[in-house]
Amino acid sequence: MSTKDRVLSGIQPTHDSFHLGNYLGAVKQWVELQDSHDAFYCVVDLHALTTSPDPTKFRKQTLASVAQLIALGLDPEQCTLFIQSHVPAHNQLAWVMECLAGFGEASRMTQFKDKSAKSGADRTVVGLFTYPMLMAADILLYQAHQVPVGEDQRQHIELTRDLAQRFNTTYKEIFTIPSGYILKAGAKIYDLQDPTSKMSKSAESPNGIIDLMDAPEINTKKIKSAVTDTEREVKFDEKNKAGISNLLTIYGALTNKSIAESEKDFEGKGYGDFKTGVAEVVVEFFRPIRAKALELLEDPTHLNKILKIGAEKAGAVAEKTLKDTYDAMGIIPRA
Ligand code: TYM
Repeated sequence: MSTKDRVLSGIQPTHDSFHLGNYLGAVKQWVELQDSHDAFYCVVDLHALTTSPDPTKFRKQTLASVAQLIALGLDPEQCTLFIQSHVPAHNQLAWVMECLAGFGEASRMTQFKDKSAKSGADRTVVGLFTYPMLMAADILLYQAHQVPVGEDQRQHIELTRDLAQRFNTTYKEIFTIPSGYILKAGAKIYDLQDPTSKMSKSAESPNGIIDLMDAPEINTKKIKSAVTDTEREVKFDEKNKAGISNLLTIYGALTNKSIAESEKDFEGKGYGDFKTGVAEVVVEFFRPIRAKALELLEDPTHLNKILKIGAEKAGAVAEKTLKDTYDAMGIIPRA
């Protein structure tokens, strides 16, 4: 067994492409952590069912998600990459978590509150309400020490910690208490058209979202029409210059430069030159990744082989935790 600390994270296969926020807030860290940690990463298809995906599209999007993760740098030899539904212990532990979580506690989850407020109670599925308990199960099954995610997942990780602690004190010390691995810069990338809202696929317009699978011309155009301000200086100031600050964060994260270094690169330059510079960095960064993802998608058999190995490795760890959990709760094992 590995002596390295564990990390686990997940991403929903709800669209044809991940966006820049997914990469900078989460997947970039997944790639970095796979060398130093015993890393488990899953495509959380069960969570995505809360969005009622079209079955034909969903099959494609799930495989496309796996291809993008590998193209972005996940190495299936270094980490365990799998699909959530391939390991049934996720659903099983989720039920345990649902029996530990309070109704009020679950009702306070802001993502649930926001999403259900948008669609109304009758159109909100129960799965959206129980979503955080399934996420807690994802994390706790692997005894993860750290969970690399963007800022928007912080509250879900807090809940996971609370549930783990509650279980450990009520029954037995089974679960490792996880911490969020949330960066200061990049944990929240904003919409290019509305730089006070996070970049998100549920935005009303696609114009503020950079998709990594989009053609370079489309992304260049989107960056060049990003909302800025009436000043002229390329300077980081989130309060007064949200659009420029967001572009500086993106530029810095993709070039591995600090904000000060990024500002320096555009000293004395206007917003037009700045946007051209950011667009070039983004487009050149994603160009080979997009090509690699498309190439991987030409051989689904190869991807399925990777996923089979991933599910076997993940399943072995998850089943052991589930067995210990059931046992601590007094559930009789099947003879
Ligand atoms: P999901 O699929 O919405 O997003 C995947 C990851 O991308 C991050 N992210 C962002 N980061 C910075 N700026 C943004 N604009 C931005 N938008 C998205 C998210 O924070 C996330 O890390 N509930 C999770 C999936 C999940 C999970 C888990 C995560 C299920 N089980 C277990 C960790 C551990 C979600 O909906 O992510």
